[in-house]
Amino acid sequence: MADVTPLRTCTKEAKFNYFLVQIADEITKDELLEMRFLCLNLDRNLPRGRLDAIEEPREFVKFLRRRGIISPGNVSFLLWLLERTGNKRLANMVRERVIPGSPPSPEPGKPRSLPCLTTNFIGRETEVEEIITKLRTDRLRMIIIISPPGMGKTQVGISVSHSLKIRETDLSVIYVERLDKLTDICGEILDRLSNRPWSISEDLISQAKRKLSVLQEDTVIVLDNTEDVQGREFDDFAKWLVQFAPKVQLLITTHQDVGFISADIHKVQLRPLDVNLSAELLQKLKVDCSEKQVKHLGKLCGGVPLLLINCGCLLKNGFNPEILIKELRDNSIQLLKFNAKEIYDALGRFVKKFSEDMVGYLVVLSV
Ligand SMILES: Nc1ncnc2c1ncn2[C@@H]1O[C@H](COP(=O)(O)OP(=O)(O)O)[C@@H](O)[C@H]1O
Ligand SMILES: [Mg+2]
Repeated sequence: MADVTPLRTCTKEAKFNYFLVQIADEITKDELLEMRFLCLNLDRNLPRGRLDAIEEPREFVKFLRRRGIISPGNVSFLLWLLERTGNKRLANMVRERVIPGSPPSPEPGKPRSLPCLTTNFIGRETEVEEIITKLRTDRLRMIIIISPPGMGKTQVGISVSHSLKIRETDLSVIYVERLDKLTDICGEILDRLSNRPWSISEDLISQAKRKLSVLQEDTVIVLDNTEDVQGREFDDFAKWLVQFAPKVQLLITTHQDVGFISADIHKVQLRPLDVNLSAELLQKLKVDCSEKQVKHLGKLCGGVPLLLINCGCLLKNGFNPEILIKELRDNSIQLLKFNAKEIYDALGRFVKKFSEDMVGYLVVLSV
């Protein structure tokens, strides 16, 4: 497993670099001149001599790439350049390739819509209200929703974001979906804050800090699934915001705690759904089961929404409820409620008994 990630990252980077070369090959000399001019006008700290010396579009994109101004996780500056120079076709190519299915021309700085809450959302009123009170009444600076995977953190984060938007019209909510690097998160935040691109000679983290520290408008930044990006750098960033960005409040969803303590932080440990809610969720999925069976299944799933949803899908696809109950009982999933690793190990053992088609279907449903 440990060997897989670097290889995957490397392939992803290589593919991205190749894609940039393809884009560069379609940039004309005139467009390149204009882009160089835009860069210099935008940021006087850029090495003018080096930029002026660039005569080939390939060299130019390489320059931007090397300085981290464009990356696989953040192409907004490249998009801005292409749009400013009027090359809508290339801009759309970049957008379509990097964000497949995205609309043709979202403008930077415009608020993006929040992700939709699942139609079957159930329960969690207490947690959602608790988080809103801690943010808006107690004015705490950071909320951490913490639990093993599949417990519903992301959905709670989305529900809080929607409620805040509805209740407080002059509050900004910036929702950032899972990103692997802090620089990409900062790029995304800067993108939402500004309708002009940010400086390109200063690193994105410093720029985000600077912008966020002088914000005039109350802003809640929701960072979903931060576990992969958490570490010293992330902690320093979050701690800095808590101390020096008075208008900003952070809400993060994660499997693991942050590495610093502050009286301005509140943690919400997400518990499993109770038996009644678990049964209600299965019923909402319109499974063909008796009331007794859904209660039994809810209990056996330990109230973990991800497991409930997956069971619901199996049942809807004709899996016999009694066999499912037997399988779950034999694998003792209900005993593993609070331990993510064991839940997944148990799920693994359980899933091994299914055909390959069924496993594929389950994977599609759970991502
Ligand atoms: N309260 C809920 N009601 C209904 N479905 C839920 C609820 N919470 C989570 N789910 C579903 O369970 C699955 C896992 O939820 P998610 O929020 O992604 O968990 P986490 O972020 O903790 O890994 C998703 O398919 C989601 O739609
Ligand atoms: Mg999540």
